[in-house]
Amino acid sequence: MAASEEVPFDYDSVKEIADYLLGLTDIRPKIGIICGSGLGGLATQVENAVEFEYSKIPKFPVSTVVGHAGKLIFGTISGKPVVCMKGRFHYYEGYSPQKVTMPVRVMKLLGVEILIVTNAAGGLNPNYKAGDIMIINDHINSLGVTGIHPLVGPNDDKFGTRFPSTTSAYAKELRKLAMDTCKELGMEDFTQTGVYFYVSGPSYETPAECRMIRTWGGDAVGMSTAPEVVVAVHCGMKVLGFSLITNVVVMDIDTDDAGPNHEEVLETSKRRAQDMQKLVKTVVAKMNVS
Ligand code: HPA
Repeated sequence: MAASEEVPFDYDSVKEIADYLLGLTDIRPKIGIICGSGLGGLATQVENAVEFEYSKIPKFPVSTVVGHAGKLIFGTISGKPVVCMKGRFHYYEGYSPQKVTMPVRVMKLLGVEILIVTNAAGGLNPNYKAGDIMIINDHINSLGVTGIHPLVGPNDDKFGTRFPSTTSAYAKELRKLAMDTCKELGMEDFTQTGVYFYVSGPSYETPAECRMIRTWGGDAVGMSTAPEVVVAVHCGMKVLGFSLITNVVVMDIDTDDAGPNHEEVLETSKRRAQDMQKLVKTVVAKMNVS
């Protein structure tokens, strides 16, 4: 489907898609997982998997980025019913913020209560190294604050209120659960907590932009996640977010470092893939859902 084709965002259309999918599987997912760049391997943790290619789901968008396969996978992780998005949508692909986040609304109407978002991100905090895992404690939605926001437009009260609070977007108890799990798994040497700064991309940031983002409070920078989280919070889901720091950003204009590239991002994701999978699996095992 071309980016310009119609992808619905309203309750009734989204419900039709959710009902269509529920008619094709017995799994009733309570936990949703969105796999970031190079983190599609998380989907290998899904047992009893029933897979749907995005292109086969009526009115679903289709991902166009290398490293982002396009499948919705139902199944279980650690015995809990889940639905996993292997491949997500980005504003830089030409999708509106509403289209980017529409699958989150589908997850809601599938019955999902907790959303786990993962992404690849550049590290800005001077303590961060490539390969670190950052538990997201907050975000700065730079597009959102300038009006490129998924909830702009008529509000559908069936999903949530007109003016949702995002004060506790990343649920405190889930952040604690994630931190405790990282410690239990012996991962504390490469676990961080911090603020995710959302940019549109697709170009990586200039050194001046990186310095600005750091001054503004970003610990990591990336091209996804914040709009999905806002839509999840709007419709009452709890959120847990992980950024895999795939590269450390360059802040010095006179450097000989050519800066990040997509291959480096995928390479670091691959290196930490097993740890991310173990972490998500263990966290899911401990989550309380109805
Ligand atoms: N900037 C933006 N997005 C990213 C980066 C980065 O340095 N690394 C991985 N995704």
